[in-house]
Amino acid sequence: MRLEVVESVADVRRAVAEARAGGRVVGLVPTMGALHAGHIRLIERCRDEAGWVAVSIFVNPTQFGPNEDLTRYPRTLDDDLARCRDAGVDLVWAPTPSTVYPSGPNSTWVEVPVLSDILEGASRPGHFRGVATVVLKLFEVVRPDLAVFGQKDYQQQLVIRRMVADLHIPVRIVTEPTVREPDGLALSSRNRYLSPDERGSATILHGALARARDAVRGGETSANRVRQILRNTIESTGSVRLDYAEVADADTLESLERLDPHTRAVALVAARVGSTRLIDNLSLTD
Ligand code: PAF
Repeated sequence: MRLEVVESVADVRRAVAEARAGGRVVGLVPTMGALHAGHIRLIERCRDEAGWVAVSIFVNPTQFGPNEDLTRYPRTLDDDLARCRDAGVDLVWAPTPSTVYPSGPNSTWVEVPVLSDILEGASRPGHFRGVATVVLKLFEVVRPDLAVFGQKDYQQQLVIRRMVADLHIPVRIVTEPTVREPDGLALSSRNRYLSPDERGSATILHGALARARDAVRGGETSANRVRQILRNTIESTGSVRLDYAEVADADTLESLERLDPHTRAVALVAARVGSTRLIDNLSLTD
């Protein structure tokens, strides 16, 4: 099948209606473009689970803070389309801001409080309000049977799951494990900002998470001691400035005191490497 690339809401709805008329299960992979192997993994998972795959490519302005990298965020549409074609995507929706926000960006918001206010939300106020708002819009236009998100954005997929549950949105959320470089660095569109030296230092995020997981596997049950391992490991690396290192309940992101066999736990870190902010996470109990 040929890849179809559309801009308008009407064209998305027509293409999805045709797919459904052909008996296809519709999957969506929401992206901001700058596609890399991690996104291709999401697309492959979507194809396995759905059969008919739409990818949205939209650098969503409302999830960027005033001092964040909206203007310099990589925009590589031609390359993205080639990757989608190679990956067997059926539809790319690449809307303009005025298509997604017809009355301007401050007209309607979706908020998922509490979950949105901690960790990434505390460091990036308003970020998850922008994410939830745009993802609901994408769901409303495409009306997918399922949508695939990456585990690298751990808190994001929890916020979206909560929104879907609370608003009774008929879509199944699938979370695909993080794709990593051989040295452990999680793939991210922002990795391309890193200088060669910073790229070397950035591996400490996964290094710290792996150490924390090893400690838990070795019998450590104090969440504070695990946080200390994360902090000490990351802060020992020049040019890396820790933002947060947390050990939390994997479903609610509530901070944990103790690790026990009955609670799924996740370690989450965020740090600036040079001027680039990176995040990563690892399950401590799988
Ligand atoms: O994860 C992303 O790329 C974005 O946050 C998303 C989900 C496409 C919303 O803009």
